[in-house]
Amino acid sequence: MSAADSPASQGSKLPSNVRIAGTGSYLPEKILTNAELEILVETSDDWITSRTGIKERRIAAEGELTSHLAAKAAEKALEQAGIEAADVELIIVATITPDTLTPATACYVQQHLGALKSVAFDVSAACSGFLYALELARHSVGAGAFKNAVIIGAEKLSAFVNWKDRNTCVLFGDGAGAAVLVPSENGDGRILSSHLGTDGAQAELLNIPGGGAACPITIENADQNLAVLSMQGREVFKHAVNAMRRASEQAIESAGLTAADISLVIPHQANIRIIDAVVERIDIDPKDVFINVDKYGNTSAAAVAIALDEANRQGRINSGDKILLVAFGAGLTWASAVIEW
Ligand code: UT7
Repeated sequence: MSAADSPASQGSKLPSNVRIAGTGSYLPEKILTNAELEILVETSDDWITSRTGIKERRIAAEGELTSHLAAKAAEKALEQAGIEAADVELIIVATITPDTLTPATACYVQQHLGALKSVAFDVSAACSGFLYALELARHSVGAGAFKNAVIIGAEKLSAFVNWKDRNTCVLFGDGAGAAVLVPSENGDGRILSSHLGTDGAQAELLNIPGGGAACPITIENADQNLAVLSMQGREVFKHAVNAMRRASEQAIESAGLTAADISLVIPHQANIRIIDAVVERIDIDPKDVFINVDKYGNTSAAAVAIALDEANRQGRINSGDKILLVAFGAGLTWASAVIEW
């Protein structure tokens, strides 16, 4: 049984009368290249490029936190949507690298934006987090509980990477992406379907073992570097391909479409080989797939959000296009959505 067949897989077939009115993204200035990583650990540009497709990633400055990246992405999305921060009603931040354990990073983002009348909270669903946030926000806005919502995927993964572990440190980067949701009128864009899934039985495959209540960082264990990402890469790879394939097929089918109707696929950007394998299995032309993993590496919850914004601003999405978003990450979690632009 693949992860996406598990009982903890939920689909939402009803289209929402909600559209994306604006997108934004922000990447820190500092670029860390594969050549620079060759100095830090025993690796090579050739290994990283051929196994992952990653050429470089962005690293946040000291003191530049997830909430700062998130707010900068949200400001751009709000500007494009033509909505003032003071009028924002709901902020959801998807992140696994919060500024603090509590309060939520969304609370800091609310302050940075000056969105003082908004309700703000985080979701933690790793690389699927932005699409989990999309699902929560589209029902909240669609039901009329909030007039608008800003959803953000933001990560400062560089703070949770073991820079001595070549198995993980070459993979991850920092960044943020955001989207503004508003009610749609006269069929000007809708969210047609979505699909979320979770398989907690596989939680050990990808986690940050230390720093929570299960394993607090103490003087005794401080030298063990436990508050960093730990991953069984090969196992995660197999689950990723299966789950993203199934989630893609389910969202397309729930929308009453076929793969031929999809104009652009925006997949989670973890590894070009995972993307290629999924795209081949769901029978999509590779030219209709948005790729930026080469520039940013894996930015977890931010990856789909950044890619959506870049695709939007590059003019790769037109009114009426049907877009497939699909993600997979720690949890294990997976998520997909089909959007009519
Ligand atoms: O964000 C969502 C969740 N994450 C993912 O979806 C990531 C899923 N996993 C992957 O993308 C891949 O499994 C990796 C990129 C992490 C690893 O690629 P792989 O082809 O599965 O390699 P591997 O882990 O099987 O390692 C192959 C070899 C090993 O050496 P031996 O045991 O064959 O001698 C590793 O020690 O490559 C070695 N290796 C490296 N060599 C040079 C591992 N990392 C590196 C490195 N540079 N950075």
